[in-house]
Amino acid sequence: MSGVMETVTAFAPATVSNVACGFDVLGFALESPGDEVTARFAPAGVFIDDIVGDSGRLPRDPNRNTASVAAQALLVRLGERRGVALAIRKGLPLSSGLGGSAASAVASVVAVAALVGACLPLDVLMACAFEGERLAAGSAHGDNIAPALYGGLVLVRQPDPPDVIRLPVPAGLTAVVVHPALEIETAGARALLGDTVPLSDAIREWANLGAFVDALHRGDFAQMARALEDSIAEPRRARLVPGFAAIKRAALDAGALGCSLSGSGPSLFALCRDAVIAQRVAAAMSAAVRASIGGEPRTIISVIAPEGARVVSACAS
Ligand code: HSE
Repeated sequence: MSGVMETVTAFAPATVSNVACGFDVLGFALESPGDEVTARFAPAGVFIDDIVGDSGRLPRDPNRNTASVAAQALLVRLGERRGVALAIRKGLPLSSGLGGSAASAVASVVAVAALVGACLPLDVLMACAFEGERLAAGSAHGDNIAPALYGGLVLVRQPDPPDVIRLPVPAGLTAVVVHPALEIETAGARALLGDTVPLSDAIREWANLGAFVDALHRGDFAQMARALEDSIAEPRRARLVPGFAAIKRAALDAGALGCSLSGSGPSLFALCRDAVIAQRVAAAMSAAVRASIGGEPRTIISVIAPEGARVVSACAS
């Protein structure tokens, strides 16, 4: 691409955060769906031209939208005096547990960086996207932002300043996500957790997290299955999803290595050792959602996407 960019569009994928044993620190990227943000220059400041796919529910006020707050943080970081206007295409349902606010923030910083011609390390983009996510979730966690930006399966040792560790993904590992027709606000789901956890729950979580990371490195699916257990969030949030236990049971009975809430829900994810098992698990989970919640859930089967956010189109003058 040459010349001055007039518009740049970036895509950022859906993400599964927590991954059962890594509350607020583990996340992985799906191949699709995702959000797209198109950026163009504006005289000064950050504006929102348009949002589609949100049924008019997201804030158009640039001070209250995750994508524009992230873009503003980037412009400040760059000392950029030009402004930008954003058009946001929501491919991710709101309050679904698929990292929608993170995807918009990440797509925004990737689009704006490309528009202004800045080639920046991922941790700088993450720090700016994090400002948008902080606004949306009302708290500071990077387990959706990081995989949406870096791709793959990542451990966020700390979100700010970012220290993101890419973890190996064994061949075959396939994710299933079912999204029932419910919405759960992350802020409310976080409030359910309180500020403290019993020491015994914390010990179980960090033991499982260590075992999961080790299993990824060695491709040990049996150990992975033992480690995919959430002692922090799932016990306190499962009641937000009617039939959660039955849906999880259906996934495990169909051969999943593990199953838990995706982020703060209502989506559930399962990890499977190969795509054939994933098909079976997806069918079993969907049937359980139909039986316990009703309606046809959206079902996604995806490898752990190695690539995160990227520019998908650019127009030069
Ligand atoms: N780790 C976060 C949570 C992800 O579970 O609250 C949701 O954005």
